[in-house]
Amino acid sequence: MRHIMVLNAKGGCGKSTIATNIASYFANEGASVALADYDPQRSSLDWLERRPENRPTIAAVAAFEDGLRHAPRNVDIMVSDAPARSHGKELADLVKHAETIVVPVLPSTIDMQATSTFLKELQGVNKVERKQVKIAAIANRVRDNTLIYGDLDEYLTKARVPYVAALREAQNYVRAYTRGIGIFELPEYLAWPDWSEWEPLTAWLRSVRSQP
Ligand SMILES: Nc1ncnc2c1ncn2[C@@H]1O[C@H](COP(=O)(O)OP(=O)(O)O)[C@@H](O)[C@H]1O
Ligand SMILES: [Mg+2]
Repeated sequence: MRHIMVLNAKGGCGKSTIATNIASYFANEGASVALADYDPQRSSLDWLERRPENRPTIAAVAAFEDGLRHAPRNVDIMVSDAPARSHGKELADLVKHAETIVVPVLPSTIDMQATSTFLKELQGVNKVERKQVKIAAIANRVRDNTLIYGDLDEYLTKARVPYVAALREAQNYVRAYTRGIGIFELPEYLAWPDWSEWEPLTAWLRSVRSQP
């Protein structure tokens, strides 16, 4: 089983949006997928409840209640949606379940600052120090030709983890969430710009570069 976690101690950076889209991407590729929600806000579980029956199934795991105790063992891919404010022992416990971590970052000074602090803490976690987990950052909700996107791009280029994708701010994410689907399940004429932005992220997730 592959275990991919979407993690950043900063709230609102797009963890649930990215986690639900990673899950639906792999489900549409024919993999058996479970989505574990570690956040009592339940955004990923709410999304799964909205999911239409005719879409590839994704198993729900209420991980904020009892971890992965009730998770199916036989899935190909487990995607975890982490809560905000994960620090200390809670962070170390979360990381135990992941071999691949995706860190979304918003184009905002507050978010870049918070992410620097978070990445420093994450890199001090024993499992990360022992290189048993691969981490990448992605820019999320970017708007082209804005100064702050330039700053974020520069920040992530210099960050100590690979910078694998930049996703634009788009209503497609909001619409897809509302319908319990991912952007890969929207019509091509609407979502093709997002599909192409996801390409480097899904390529990284499929490659050995994201596996320890
Ligand atoms: N790329 C995006 N474009 C537009 N809206 C987005 C995008 N990513 C996230 N959002 C919106 O931003 C808000 C926070 O995202 P969410 O995934 O809930 O973050 P988190 O789980 O980190 O708290 C939500 O309203 C979500 O719909
Ligand atoms: Mg969330």
